[in-house]
Amino acid sequence: MPLEIIHISDTHIGPDHSLDIRGANSWERACALVEQINVLPFKPDLIVHTGDVVNDPDPAAYALAEEVLSGLELPVYYSAGNHDEVPMMRAALTFPEHQSLLPKSADRLCYRITHPSTEEYELFVIDGRVPPSEGAYGVVSLEQIEALANQISGEKPVAVFSHYPMLETGSKWIDEHLLITNREEVLKMLKDKAGNQLKGIFTGHLHRGLTLFRNGVLNSGVSSPACEFTAWPEGDFCDFISGGPIPFNHVTLTSDAAWVKSYSIPFGASS
Ligand SMILES: [Fe+2]
Repeated sequence: MPLEIIHISDTHIGPDHSLDIRGANSWERACALVEQINVLPFKPDLIVHTGDVVNDPDPAAYALAEEVLSGLELPVYYSAGNHDEVPMMRAALTFPEHQSLLPKSADRLCYRITHPSTEEYELFVIDGRVPPSEGAYGVVSLEQIEALANQISGEKPVAVFSHYPMLETGSKWIDEHLLITNREEVLKMLKDKAGNQLKGIFTGHLHRGLTLFRNGVLNSGVSSPACEFTAWPEGDFCDFISGGPIPFNHVTLTSDAAWVKSYSIPFGASS
């Protein structure tokens, strides 16, 4: 059976309804995203949010995030982004059926999605956060690499969800500052264990859509409903674009393929 997933990311909800991110109200734009997903003309199986649920970790922000995202009429799974804190996420957000891969860790979100619709698949959420003072790149701990290696059978299609991308984008600023730094180690494990069952790595963080394919590995990224980043190939920085359409991806997994369809909602069109 195909597995139908809606991939969203980087909602950057604030502690009240007024947070303005470079001219865009993240609460209003998250509400529009939820409204549009709820009226899709088909029924997806689940939603994965690849992190930066809130703009700054704060119980009030997570309470608002739960208020809007629990309006999604589907199970919603979360990964942790560099703007998130896991204990607050666990306290405020609803996590559907899952199996923690680091059961002793209170501040890491590394788990296998075990929703009944995923029975024929192996879906994993990993947590690459480093202390914010170190930067906005990610590192996947050896413990997580080993935990995934122990879970991957090689007999079912595999998908991995991570806040941080794992393939170079060709944009200097992004590649230097925003990726998983030990990505070669993670990719080697995934290729060794899953082989051609690895259907894709799905990521956020870049605030822009992304399709990369290297050595048989797909990295598909979805942009942020809050604001987008520019990032030119040779630039040493990125700028912000606010007020554009609101993005989400529809990912279909099958036993032998992954389809990614990107959607943009003109802001205000759904109200
Ligand atoms: Fe973000």
